[in-house]
Parts: sequence; structure tokens; C-alpha cells
Amino acid sequence: MTATVKAAHDGEERPLRSQQWFDNPHNPGMTALYIERYMNWGLTREELQSGKPIIGIAQTGSDLAPCNRHHLLLAERVREGIREAGGIAFEFPVHPIQETGKRPTASLDRNLAYLGLVEVLYGYPIDGVVLTTGCDKTTPALLMAAATVNIPSIVLSGGPMLNGWYRGARTGSGTIVWQAREMLAAGEIDEAGFVELVASSAPSPGHCNTMGTASTMNSLAEALGMSLPGSAAIPAVHRDRARVAFLTGRRIVEMVHEDLKPSDIMTREAFENAIVVNSAIGGSTNAPIHLNAVAKHMGVPLEVQDWETLGLTVPLLVNLQPAGVYLGEEYHRAGGVPAVVHELMRHSLIKEDALTVNGRTIGENCAYSASEDADVIRSFDDALLPDAGFVVLGGNLFDSAIMKTSVISAEFRERYLSDPQHPNCFEGRAIVFEGPEDYHARIDDPDLAIDEGCILFIRGAGPLGYPGAAEVVNMQPPAALIKRGVHNLPCVGDGRQSGTSGSPSILNASPEAALGGGLAVLRTGDRVRIDLNQRRADVLLSDEELGARIRDLAAKGGFPVPASQTPWQEIQRSMVDQLSEGMVLKPAVAYQRIAQS
Ligand code: FES
Ligand code: MG
Repeated sequence: MTATVKAAHDGEERPLRSQQWFDNPHNPGMTALYIERYMNWGLTREELQSGKPIIGIAQTGSDLAPCNRHHLLLAERVREGIREAGGIAFEFPVHPIQETGKRPTASLDRNLAYLGLVEVLYGYPIDGVVLTTGCDKTTPALLMAAATVNIPSIVLSGGPMLNGWYRGARTGSGTIVWQAREMLAAGEIDEAGFVELVASSAPSPGHCNTMGTASTMNSLAEALGMSLPGSAAIPAVHRDRARVAFLTGRRIVEMVHEDLKPSDIMTREAFENAIVVNSAIGGSTNAPIHLNAVAKHMGVPLEVQDWETLGLTVPLLVNLQPAGVYLGEEYHRAGGVPAVVHELMRHSLIKEDALTVNGRTIGENCAYSASEDADVIRSFDDALLPDAGFVVLGGNLFDSAIMKTSVISAEFRERYLSDPQHPNCFEGRAIVFEGPEDYHARIDDPDLAIDEGCILFIRGAGPLGYPGAAEVVNMQPPAALIKRGVHNLPCVGDGRQSGTSGSPSILNASPEAALGGGLAVLRTGDRVRIDLNQRRADVLLSDEELGARIRDLAAKGGFPVPASQTPWQEIQRSMVDQLSEGMVLKPAVAYQRIAQS
């Protein structure tokens, strides 16, 4: 039986993609070879040739990837949904990406998982795919591949862990690590206390329960329209999580019949919605990198500057750590992404016609989803902060870098941004570290004489320098300063920082030092001026001096970069773009919507 799918837009009937493998009258010999091996685990010829959509389940869970591990269980409910809707499930592994386990950094593997998934989706008999997401880089990696291949795709987040608690207070994953490090440095806890405190933040399966990169990216996948409404925030172990797994499986089969593809959903309007939502949730500084990457693979124009233009003036509505106080359980109970979108819609900040995976628009999905807890998901009138988006800076140190203004503490604002003559401007003495190892080795060195008048710089931490771009820009002040009550120094760098960090660093600087950006010639002791009004960061050197230093560096062979340790590090370095460009593999961007070709 030849089954057809009806294209959502032109209404034309087309055969299922998998029939090229399993039911191809032009090549019966190959058909036999394809079906005999898929029959060897018990599938029948009838199943494979009855025109049922073959649905891939892109499995990111494994023992190596604990944040996503319970997808191994959720996949059972996904399969049941697929089967009930008349499809056949083919589950397959995705290269693991565990934020807390992969050395030198998990972000090295985002593009590797992307490449692997593109090959699987393109090269196997798959009509549609369920993308199991969770830990930070898994969500962008899978969305990027879905964009490139452009077969019907739906995101199923694994959901956050239950809230962490310690002695009556919420402990948020990731965020507590930064606090615990300060407490350790200040002598308030010992090593055992440190481990106990940090481990308390991870009480169940699931991804980080804070608004770190994982909750951010899964919220943005939903805001993009790529997951069922209300699904991103459901805690991993909540019964609704298994229920939505079933519904996701059922829905992807319908999407195949409707030929509803990523290109129908991830439009410019959808990305604009995601940027606005990112500000309202207090999302991670990794979001621009990942979303810009997805957009590039989708062929949708999106620039770093869009994040400020569209996102800066959106208020912070979601009261979650690190910008607020609550965690994942409260976020879900208060209504999750639909409640946030609903409030943004009331202020005309959402492109309501953007289509989503359930076949309805985001406006339709969120029309009646008001917040159910006004302290957790706030109204505009009671926002936690105005202007919660990112500012994009330039200057003679880099062409672009971003700063998350929603996490600037009162202490930081008072010390650096409140000069009545020059509000939002400060000058400082640069302290330059060559990557994270150098920072850890020297931060407490008394010879550096680090005080409140210093700006900490880290370089050699970008996509080429590290490689993969390290999450290191949020540098803790020396222990002596913390003991004196200085919790944040201004930090600038060409790397990234964890989405769970509450530091207002200037980060993702592009071009990075390893590509000859201005950071490469900065020296400890230089004066640097940060002017947030003008959106500039400049070392106070003449153009002549700066030019001489750049020529001098070039004569010495350029900025030193450590040797690659693995083949993939070398391959990626040969073709990766900068953080401002989404850190994509440049040759890959040319391949778009390849399932149609
Ligand atoms: Fe995996 Fe945070 S470490 S989600
Ligand atoms: Mg992270």
C-alpha cells in the first residue's frame, strides 16, 4: 500500500519518505535488502510496507548523560503515542552531551552531535523525528539538525529536576555552585560541606532546575513553537511529563501526515518570539549563541544585535534563580512558558500568528494561559526588573560582546554604575588571564594587587582558543576581596559563562583573541573604559600603540593556541565560526532543507 502525505501548504500528495527504502517499485532489490534487516528484530513485512510513518526517536539519554537519562524511560511513552497514532518508532542514540561531564567542555560537542544527527535523519528511513532534549547543548544540537534536514520534527524536553533544598532553603543546580565556591573561599564551609551543599541541588532525574541554559533552551524551543504548549517546564518526574511524552509521540505522526516541517514553524517571527521570551524568563547568555546557530541552519536571518533591539526592554517576569528566587517546580505550577507568553501577548510583544507543532498558532495556544502564581510568573505591573534583555557592546577590544543586565546586583550597580557624573560608565585596571587554568593559578597572587578598581579579563577561551568556548568568564574575585564583601568584579572575556551564573559579565566577545581580536594585545595594567550608555568597551591606548602591538603579535606568529587533543577538536577549529555567529560549522550552513533535495 502506498501512503501519501499531504503537504501543509501546497496540498499536494507525496509518498512517505521511508517508502524510498521500504516500498520502492523502481528498485525491488534494494527494498528487499532494506526490509530484511529491519525485520530481524521482529518487525513484519506488513508493518514496514503498510505506509505507516517511521518516526525516529533521537535519544540523548544515557548513563553518560544523567541530565537526559530518564528519556530512556520516557521513550516508552513516546513509542506508545507513535503506535497509537499509526506510526512505527525507531529509537536511535545521539552522541552524548553532558554539560557537567565532558572535557574540555560540552560545547565542543554541540556541533558534533548536530553533524551526527543530520547524517542519521538524512540517511535512514525516517519520516519524522522526536527530539529528546534537556541538558544545555542537547536542545540546540537537535534543533540545528532538524533545521538542516527539515523533516517533521517535535521537541520533547526531559524536564527539570525537582527543587533542591538545604536546611530549609532552595538550592538551585549550578547557581548553588557559585555561592558554595564563595563560601569555601571565605572559609564558611569546608570541602565536605561544599559537596553536601552542591549535591543537595540535584535531588532527582532531570536537567538543571534553575533558569540556566537547559531551562532556557527548552523554554525557547517551546516559544519557537517546536514543542507542545506547556511542556518545557514540567518537572522530569511529574506524571504530566510522561503524559506529554505520549502526546508528543502521537502528534509527530499527525505532523508527518500534514507535512508540517521545521521551516513552517521556525520562521523569523518565531525567533523574534523566542528572543522576547528569553528576556522575560531571565534566560541564559548562551541563548544567543544557540538560537543564532539554529537560525543560521534554518536560513533565517538573525544577528546578535537583534537580541538587544528586540529583547532589551522586555521586563523580567519569571522569578527563578539565578535572577530570582524560585526553581523549576514553581515555574511549572505557575504555568510555564504559556503563562509567560500570555503576559507578553497582553503587551503586544508576541507575533501571535507564528505556527507551532500542534498545528495552531502561539496566539491560539496561549490565549487563556494566565499565570497561576503572580509571584513566580509576574505581570508587567509587578515585574522583577525592567529591561531584562542583553546589551550588545563593541569597541577596540572586540566587535561584539553581550551583557545580561538582569543579573547586575545592587552591590555591583552601586560600585560601578552609579557615578553621578558618568552613570553606567566605569574605568579600571585590566588584569589579564590566559584561559581558566591561568586564572585559577593566579587569581589570589598578591603581586597582582587586585582590588575593586580592577577589571578581570580572560582570553583564549573562545571557539578556537579553548576549543569549543569555555564557560569561564564569570570569574570570582580573589578570596581576600570576597572576605571584604566584594562579590563581583567586572569580568570580560572571549568565552562563555554558565547560564546558572548570576554574574553580569561582558562575554561571548567576538572576534576572540585567537582570531586576532583586540583582546589578544591587552596587557595587565592597561586602563579599560566600559561605557554601557555608548555600548562600548575600549582599552585606553592610542590607535598607534594598538596597531604596533597587533603588528608585534603577528610578527611573533599570532596569539598562541594550545594544540588540539582529539581529531574532532582539530576538525572543528578548521571550520568553526565565532560566538557572535552561533559558533556554527561554516561549511554546514550551506546545506539547508536537505531532505527535499
Ligand atoms: Fe545538564 Fe545543567 S548540567 S542541564
Ligand atoms: Mg552550562
